[in-house]
Amino acid sequence: MIGANGQIGTELAVALRQKFGSENVITSDLREPRSPKEGEIFEIINVLDKPALKALFEKYKPTQVYLLAAMLSATGEQYPMKAWDLNMNGLLNVLDLALELGIKKIFWPSSIAVFGPHSPKQNTPQYCIMDPNSIYGISKLAGERLCEYYHKKYGLDIRSLRYPGIISWKTAPGGGTTDYAVDIFFEALKSGKYSCFLSADTALPMLYMEDAVAGTIALMDAAQEQLTVRSSYNLGGISFTPAEIAEEITKILPNFEMSYVENDPRQAIADSWPASIEDTVAQEDWNWKPTFDLQAMTKDMIENLK
Ligand code: SER
Repeated sequence: MIGANGQIGTELAVALRQKFGSENVITSDLREPRSPKEGEIFEIINVLDKPALKALFEKYKPTQVYLLAAMLSATGEQYPMKAWDLNMNGLLNVLDLALELGIKKIFWPSSIAVFGPHSPKQNTPQYCIMDPNSIYGISKLAGERLCEYYHKKYGLDIRSLRYPGIISWKTAPGGGTTDYAVDIFFEALKSGKYSCFLSADTALPMLYMEDAVAGTIALMDAAQEQLTVRSSYNLGGISFTPAEIAEEITKILPNFEMSYVENDPRQAIADSWPASIEDTVAQEDWNWKPTFDLQAMTKDMIENLK
């Protein structure tokens, strides 16, 4: 797993170690994890350093690669060329080395950021107009096309999900537009209030980490012939606005206070994204079914963060 210290990698690695055994999962990132555990194999790697990545693959001969290293939407707008370089060339390095070294199976996450202002906003379907206008969304859409291309042209078994905003309590996300939906819980418990950078009525698609991890593993376990999408699968979960999540938190923490900051650059990114996602293709192809709704997720987040 490349980019294993991030929000998704941290929890996906735990699940993969449980499934395959610690000795069979190699995690890697730019830096050591904050709390390395005994018996776990970790390597420092920069996915842009292709010779080092090749040496790493040759050392461990992985049968599957999970490429999670990426720059998210908000940070991407601050460093567009760096975001493009990491998100595109990181993927190309992995795809090319997979072909060269015979690595058969790859997971690469895409995002709801592949949609844009002309995509249908409600229940955004698998196939529709896609005109992303953030560098993150542009890089993810280009990446999806490359994944499908490498599958069709070279037979590489690459699988992908368009993750919505992922909500979790173990590791915070960094640099994304949906991050408010995680920050809000930390602040609600710490200070009893939260100043939101998105407006009260900005609905975005979200998903609880437990469902995201289960969905990722279900997709990776699915038989090849079940998969009809080789770009990236729509993955719906929960859709809510800042006002709605604040209301849900207030049911458990009655003194919680929400305020809103105007003119944050992340608002424009959110405005260009879907409000909710239609995911029947994932349901039909590999039985995707999330289990957490807004209420269950809010309760679980607060119980665990406490
Ligand atoms: N969570 C991501 C972001 O906000 C979306 O893929 O950038």
